[in-house]
Amino acid sequence: MSIIYRTITADDIDEASELEQSSFADPWPRSAFEEIVDKRDADYYLAEDEETGRLVGGCVVFRIIDEGDIMNVAVNRDYRGRGIATGLIRYAMERNEEMGIRDFTLEVRVSNAPAIRVYEKCGFESAGIRPGFYDHPKEDGLVMWRYKEDIE
Ligand SMILES: CC(C)(COP(=O)(O)OP(=O)(O)OC[C@H]1O[C@@H](n2cnc3c(N)ncnc32)[C@H](O)[C@@H]1OP(=O)(O)O)[C@@H](O)C(=O)NCCC(=O)NCCS
Repeated sequence: MSIIYRTITADDIDEASELEQSSFADPWPRSAFEEIVDKRDADYYLAEDEETGRLVGGCVVFRIIDEGDIMNVAVNRDYRGRGIATGLIRYAMERNEEMGIRDFTLEVRVSNAPAIRVYEKCGFESAGIRPGFYDHPKEDGLVMWRYKEDIE
């Protein structure tokens, strides 16, 4: 299986929104995907199955000065466990490093072992707990950071 990583275009909005709805308890509305296509301080990156053209993964990076906040990381259930999230986050971080972003942060449910494993593979380390950060169900958030100086 060959995966292409790229930035979202207006043609991808329907599929990206469907992936979001099927992946999260509190998904972004479709309008958020419409807005992000034109945003200058954020991008949505996606993973596409080259053979079928199907959108199989996605994530967002919001940029604030030289920091990137990674959100909404999701991979279609049928495609999990094949390194797609890891490849996608690495791709997204490379694109943002080219734009001057040095450090990256994210939050993840403390029980989400597969996601935490992905972030550790990408160089993130735990930095603290945000009590009750998540709803549906209520759960603590683990804050993770990847500092450029730690990986140089
Ligand atoms: C989290 C998610 C994006 C991972 O996508 P993925 O493409 O399967 O991730 P990868 O294949 O790159 O890596 C998954 C890793 O987790 C590991 N893993 C899977 N289940 C695990 C578990 N229960 N406990 C610990 N590690 C686990 C895999 O073995 C793999 O690590 P390895 O390469 O060392 O073997 C995907 O499961 C998903 O979309 N989940 C629902 C949405 C979500 O929770 N997003 C994260 C929000 S912060």
